[in-house]
Amino acid sequence: MKRLHIFTLLFVIFPSFLFAGEGMWIPMLLQYNEKEMQEMGMRITADDIYSINHSSLKDAIVLFGGGCTGEIVSNQGLLLTNHHCGYDYIQKHSSVEHDYLTNGFWAMNRGEELPCPGLSVIFLREMRDVTEKILHNIDIDMPEDERQAKIDENVKKLVAEFEKQTDYKVSIKPFFLGNEYYMLFNETYTDVRLVGCPPSNIGKFGGDTDNWVWPRHTGDFSIFRVYADKDGHPAAYSEDNVPYKPAKHLDISLKGAEEGDFAFVFGYPARTNEYLPAVAVDQEANLIDPVTVDLRGKVLDIYNRYQEQDPKVRIQYASKHAGIGNGWKKWMGVTEGINHFRGVEKKEAYEKGFQEWALAARNRYMYIDLLRQFKDNYKQLEPYQLAYTYVAEAGLRIELVSFAGRFARLSEVTKDTPQEDIDRMLHQLKGTSENFFKDYYEPIDRDVAKMLLKEYLEAQSTDFRPTFLNDIKDVDSYVDKLFDKTMFTDEAKVTALLDNFKAKDAKKLANDPAMKVYQSLIGFFRNEVHGKMASITADNDRLRRIYMKGQMEMQPEKRFSPDANFTLRVTYGRVEGFRPKDGMKYKHFTTLEGIMQKENPDIYDYVVEPRLKELYNKKDYGRYADKDGTMHVAFTASVHTTGGNSGSPILNADGQLLGLNFDRCWEGTMSDLIYDPDICRNISVDIRYVLFIIDKFAGAGHLIDEMTIVE
Ligand code: ARG
Ligand code: GLU
Repeated sequence: MKRLHIFTLLFVIFPSFLFAGEGMWIPMLLQYNEKEMQEMGMRITADDIYSINHSSLKDAIVLFGGGCTGEIVSNQGLLLTNHHCGYDYIQKHSSVEHDYLTNGFWAMNRGEELPCPGLSVIFLREMRDVTEKILHNIDIDMPEDERQAKIDENVKKLVAEFEKQTDYKVSIKPFFLGNEYYMLFNETYTDVRLVGCPPSNIGKFGGDTDNWVWPRHTGDFSIFRVYADKDGHPAAYSEDNVPYKPAKHLDISLKGAEEGDFAFVFGYPARTNEYLPAVAVDQEANLIDPVTVDLRGKVLDIYNRYQEQDPKVRIQYASKHAGIGNGWKKWMGVTEGINHFRGVEKKEAYEKGFQEWALAARNRYMYIDLLRQFKDNYKQLEPYQLAYTYVAEAGLRIELVSFAGRFARLSEVTKDTPQEDIDRMLHQLKGTSENFFKDYYEPIDRDVAKMLLKEYLEAQSTDFRPTFLNDIKDVDSYVDKLFDKTMFTDEAKVTALLDNFKAKDAKKLANDPAMKVYQSLIGFFRNEVHGKMASITADNDRLRRIYMKGQMEMQPEKRFSPDANFTLRVTYGRVEGFRPKDGMKYKHFTTLEGIMQKENPDIYDYVVEPRLKELYNKKDYGRYADKDGTMHVAFTASVHTTGGNSGSPILNADGQLLGLNFDRCWEGTMSDLIYDPDICRNISVDIRYVLFIIDKFAGAGHLIDEMTIVE
């Protein structure tokens, strides 16, 4: 008993004994994390994960479609990513006759695989630290523009030098906010074909209702194949291309993971901001995010009201609802998390320590004024940041106004504008307006406009809002008049104008009341907001770079991880659930039982495929069942991830595939700013559920035969 006490005490006093979970690590520097990873249970080496001397796991990881991660799972270039990452390509191949979104798609042989023009995957071949070469002639007190010009020149020179020696694409990116620079050698493959995807009732099960939320039951995966020329090199689509043979493909484990097991994610996180000062975190979490969440919440309420009444409107506004709702839920989580975790106070306490450190030695002079300058800058930034938020979330959120804005360039046409330019604009705008009217329901937009403009007027003073607002006496009648008078709510008028457009019609466009609202908003943003915001932000970037450098100097023994910047990273933690609130404990996995519990044939997000129900009733899970006999669907882990990690493999201690990352729990979305191992959890679909769907549901066992399965 006594011993236990001392032990617990140690943990309280030295929380760093516990693994912190935070960090998106650069694969080429993973040897510094190796010991910790192995202590946590990893049985492979850093070199097995990233090496340029022999094949390693990194050879199986790609940046998929410029925004997600994918992984190669066979020696025939078979690739897994999320359903929501493959969505656009699935949609492009879908039609009423072949509705792959609704019904799923399975190529039963190579000939049936569907080319996806515009889709590419990028392999990282090598990475090098070039900090010395980029920063060798840079002084700390150099004026910013001079500094940047020198860096740009150094980058250009070095890229040119290396491009001569290699066939790979060479680029150089800043890390640690510009304190370090790394060179990346990439190879891009553009012949990528769709091989399979489940019906949306599986791949998107739970839809936006469940988005960001645990417990989760989404079979969020799709399958592609990478093709190359006969020598394995990238090549444009051709029937002669052959499946790409990777240096390494991932092995797949059927063992699942127990709570507490080590796990790591290998992929392309897009953006995090872990080193912001307290004042910036406070501004984001307690001012900007709440305003955005509040405005979006009110828009979504209006959408919901109409969507519930009319199935046609439900479909028309489904994707808009998803887009607005994704950020809405995420930012709600950011605010809750920061406050629950006392993130601002913790950062302030840390900054106090930094300030004391900076004052303690003379050669730290460049750090002593940083925090004060941050405070000044963010204070100055605040009204502009808010003004920007209202322009975007209250002004341009009115569909009529942003639609009118798409015609702004056409409204500036004169008799001297070359006809081919006009034709190009007209061609584009015909597509734009067709898309717009297909999914436009005017009564929603009127209500949204009335609500948003009232909010705008109430929240922003005359100096910080566009001038059109100042003339409004009664919002409701103003909005009704606007919608009655504009041509942009009338498809026939817009089409007729585009079909018979003459230069003199530009005036008519420019004088349209909705165009005037758009111009007033944009003019205000350009003239009163943008310049000021940009100059403060540039100064903040400088301060952040120096602050980063100071923090690294203050804690020379600490391993820092650079903020995410869409480069390949390794993040690790454990498979585990969490306690979202006092009195609640979330288990770390869900099962097919949960899908049956959620089933509701009347709610689009919760319709269960009959074939899946059949398999469930027969408990026909084959070798994909967990040892507890159930079919596991999704699981959570304390692994630090963000947008871009969608589709990333989550791997076990032996580097074998356990699942595909696809989301986070909203309670921990603050992890983009501050990571808290108690509540930040990523969500993955269990690979056994993926294989079960491929094999038992779709009967596409030939794909499983290609994979390397470890039982
Ligand atoms: N929240 C996830 C991510 O940011 C998934 C989004 C797609 N899924 C959805 N139901 N909308 O990107
Ligand atoms: N769904 C996100 C994506 O598409 C990943 C979730 C997250 O932000 O962690 O990248």
